[in-house]
Amino acid sequence: MCGIIGHAGKGENIVPKCLQKLEYRGYDSAGIAALNSSGIEVSKGVGTVDEAVEAPQGSAAIGHTRWATHGGVTQTNAHPHTDPDGRVAVVHNGIIDNHSDLREEVGEGRFESETDTEVIPHLLAQHLKEGLDPRAAAEEVTDRLEGSYAAVALLEGGQMVAFKQGAPLAVARNQDEHFFSSDVVPLLEHVNEAAFLQDGDIAILDSDLRVFNQGREVERDSQEIQWEGGSATRGDFDHFTRKEIGEQPETIKRATFQDEESLTEAAGMLEKARTVWITGCGTSSYAADHMRDYLAPEVDARSIQSHELEYRTDEVGDDDAVVAVSQSGETKDLLAALEGIEAPVLSFLNVAQSSLERRSDHTIHINAGPEVGVASTKAYTAQLTAMKTVAAELKDQEQVLESLRSTAEKAERLVKASESLAEKLHGALKGEDAYFVGRYQRFHSAKEASLKLKELSYIHSEAFPAGEFKHGTLALVEEGTPVVGFVDEETADETLSNLEEASSRGAEIIGVGPKDRDVYDLHVPIPEDPNREMLEVIPFQMLALKTALDRGNDPDRPRNLAKSVTVK
Ligand code: F6R
Repeated sequence: MCGIIGHAGKGENIVPKCLQKLEYRGYDSAGIAALNSSGIEVSKGVGTVDEAVEAPQGSAAIGHTRWATHGGVTQTNAHPHTDPDGRVAVVHNGIIDNHSDLREEVGEGRFESETDTEVIPHLLAQHLKEGLDPRAAAEEVTDRLEGSYAAVALLEGGQMVAFKQGAPLAVARNQDEHFFSSDVVPLLEHVNEAAFLQDGDIAILDSDLRVFNQGREVERDSQEIQWEGGSATRGDFDHFTRKEIGEQPETIKRATFQDEESLTEAAGMLEKARTVWITGCGTSSYAADHMRDYLAPEVDARSIQSHELEYRTDEVGDDDAVVAVSQSGETKDLLAALEGIEAPVLSFLNVAQSSLERRSDHTIHINAGPEVGVASTKAYTAQLTAMKTVAAELKDQEQVLESLRSTAEKAERLVKASESLAEKLHGALKGEDAYFVGRYQRFHSAKEASLKLKELSYIHSEAFPAGEFKHGTLALVEEGTPVVGFVDEETADETLSNLEEASSRGAEIIGVGPKDRDVYDLHVPIPEDPNREMLEVIPFQMLALKTALDRGNDPDRPRNLAKSVTVK
């Protein structure tokens, strides 16, 4: 949530270009502050970077793309924020919990915006005015801040000061430039390696970058960025979401390529655990649900969403293990749940070097490449694949790897077929409500398909186990209400009777599975496959994309959402 950039050195328009690559972290408003001969110039406004900013030029600049937490979406609340004299400009990602106390201290009348962030430039400027150097001033300020932050300040003297606690901030350099960035995606075209600051770090960029923690200078080692320069660009595609849906045959295959030692270590952690708690949020939590079923019955595994796990950490024993599932590795709910846990953590992660990787005892990289579309598509199927690969290692099921690679080939055919399937589905899902049902593993897929539809199309959609229908939701079924049923052989008898019950009350039944059935008004054929869960969501990803476009929504940037959810 919120993306921040800092840049110093040669190169024109670097900050706006980098900022556009961070828009998936927030796109309510944007702003840039640049240092030029007349001081710090700020341009900011509501909308995307293109709409909101007339890019000011300068030898050093900071930028921000916002996902509002404190204060409405207005030009005044957009970052950067400055002190009253305009000598310090600040961009911030996170939440300053004690901002009200700090505002009172500074004097309410001195603030322009309603944001928590604005206290930072005020406090920094105060300490600089008292004669402190930038590092000492930043130490004074960070001593006072409670909450989470990654912040970069641009000072009138030309220095930049960055500090972080809880939210991510990468630093990188090439021969001519220094960068600060919320993640490595904007940096791909500029540098080959980056380092991540650690909590408590204060970085001072003057002629060179120096990092301090608790008063001591520290080294933060750079690591090679694994993603290629062009991998975060749209290429010839109209939207990232379409590109990423289409990449799945490749990313499913890639997720099976895991280092043997790493697999052994991951399987060992799960095998020796008394109970395995698998946790994530949103789409990643549905992948976690599937993983529970991959591990059972050999492993006592539970799947629980991270914001709920946070209330149960005292139930997690030291001899248990936690599996943390996240595309971004920055999801606050997940990181917060892990705070109270002593058990070893195995993570399934897409973004390397993220906060989750640092918190984990071992990480399986799902290798999906940058996922820019806010709705998770290829990361989900890559999570499932990597999880199944680990489960196969634990259960000595060598044939699974082969089967996953053949699933990737079927995914290729299904991606192609999904264009016309989505067209038909779109015709069937005409109203403002849709219900998705399934039993056992099919229920997990129903949840993911429903989430895709609601977040991109804004159609109200609910998913629940098919058996629950008659316990309440059936009351909402009217003539033509679309009900999507995920059906497999194991659960067919019961799910089909639930669909019959809905059909006899007027529901339009859309059946998803290998076989066409009498009760279906529309059949979405999915190939027979032992890894069907990786296939059956694909037509619904495409449906969500199609519906979004049809309704004039931006599928890459659904309203109110952001890619990396770094607040609770
Ligand atoms: C839905 C979606 C979200 C994320 C969730 C967790 O399409 O993308 O539900 O899955 O916010 O994010 P990560 O996986 O980054 O922890």
